[in-house]
Amino acid sequence: MRTLISGGTVVSPAGAALSEVLIEDERVVALAAPGSEMAASFCAGANVIEAAGLLVLPGAVDVHTHMELPFGGTYASDTFETGTRAAAWGGTTTIVDFAVQRKGEPLRTGLDVWLAKAEGNCAIDYGFHMIVSDVNEQICKEMDVLVGEGVTSFKLFMAYPGVLYSTDGEIFRAMQQAAQSGATIMVHAENGIAIDVLVSQALARGETAPRFHGTTRPDLLEAEATARAVALARVAGAPVYIVHLTTTGALEAVAEARRAGQNAFAETCPQYLFLSSDDLARDGFEGAKYVCSPPLRAREHQANLWRGLRTDDLSIVSTDHCPFFFKEQKELGKEDFSKIPNGLPAVEHRVDLTYQGVRAGEITLSRWVEVNATTPARMFGLYPKKGVIAPGSDADIVVYDPNARHTISASSHHMNVDYSTYEGREVIGQARWVLSRGRLVIQDGRYVGDKAHGRFLARGTNQYLL
Ligand code: URP
Ligand code: ZN
Ligand code: ZN
Repeated sequence: MRTLISGGTVVSPAGAALSEVLIEDERVVALAAPGSEMAASFCAGANVIEAAGLLVLPGAVDVHTHMELPFGGTYASDTFETGTRAAAWGGTTTIVDFAVQRKGEPLRTGLDVWLAKAEGNCAIDYGFHMIVSDVNEQICKEMDVLVGEGVTSFKLFMAYPGVLYSTDGEIFRAMQQAAQSGATIMVHAENGIAIDVLVSQALARGETAPRFHGTTRPDLLEAEATARAVALARVAGAPVYIVHLTTTGALEAVAEARRAGQNAFAETCPQYLFLSSDDLARDGFEGAKYVCSPPLRAREHQANLWRGLRTDDLSIVSTDHCPFFFKEQKELGKEDFSKIPNGLPAVEHRVDLTYQGVRAGEITLSRWVEVNATTPARMFGLYPKKGVIAPGSDADIVVYDPNARHTISASSHHMNVDYSTYEGREVIGQARWVLSRGRLVIQDGRYVGDKAHGRFLARGTNQYLL
């Protein structure tokens, strides 16, 4: 099967150029300048996607999603089927989700559960990180086995005591193991022990509304934990990746480590670039829609996060997609903010939202592609299969209309959740055609995908290590 994407502007981290893109079966086979002899040869027997006036992008790679995550007595409401479909609508063609090790169980048991959930249910390709909630010598050996099987990154939590939390010693031990295998240790960097004290004190004062989720998780406790995670990784000699970074102080800790030449990396998420603690403080229980951890911060942090994206101290924008219905799920915390399941719906809107940053001059077009597709693929061992349009790469491609206007709403989004944190927000720019390994998933604004199409991706290690 031959497909030609004709007349579009191919965007990469290196720049943008008019280019004809030829796909055969699952792969990109050639690019050529329009009007060239080579381009003329592409047409024979090809289905043509007319892309004049449109951008041709490598499919976006979201390295932080939680489909069906058990959390706070309930489950994230997107299944792999609904979540990967929504991702494709928004121009994402690969997700890396988190398999969870339950305390006392081998890593393999958790991974098998998540592989079974995903298998046969994904419209796009997927990989897994492993959440380690129980570090011991046996588990460290298992980490090495998983690296050999393509699960090359492990998330550890300084937050959520009693659930997913690990002590500094446990995190340090996992980092030592990663230093040997080349695995990346991802850290949820909030001081959960101090936060739990603040939460108990707030509840004892009768402070039960959603906004107290934010006041009991102050930004300094993220900055402190980030600095600690980076220091532990430095001593252990392991690559460290700070997930969902939200604050100026935490960013400074990462930037300082990077200036010192450490393998320290970080991501932020659209909710920290576009939403704020004002949303969490909305009237009544409305703020529950915005409860996630780390919490939404004061608007002042946003300009610094954009700066971090420009300077590469923030390397990636991922979503931390973890949706819960407002009705019955977020409502579990109606009388007590600490019982509101943590997480927001986001997987569908990352590409469009960050494109608003391009329009506003916060990042360039090339940087937009880099933070959404190329860097996540490189950081998590998927490049050059994913994250680039080049001969030999998987034909994961988004044909993007940079002038399409649309309004984000729960009534039109495709995520399995009854509200949108961006309800009524008009954005400019939208994916029109989305291909996953050469197969159409979105065809001129229509879903034509297949839940049996997506394949598990065995990943290599981080390609940025110094
Ligand atoms: O609020 C969040 N972020 N929920 C998902 C779990 C996590 O900590 O990433
Ligand atoms: Zn987290
Ligand atoms: Zn997460």
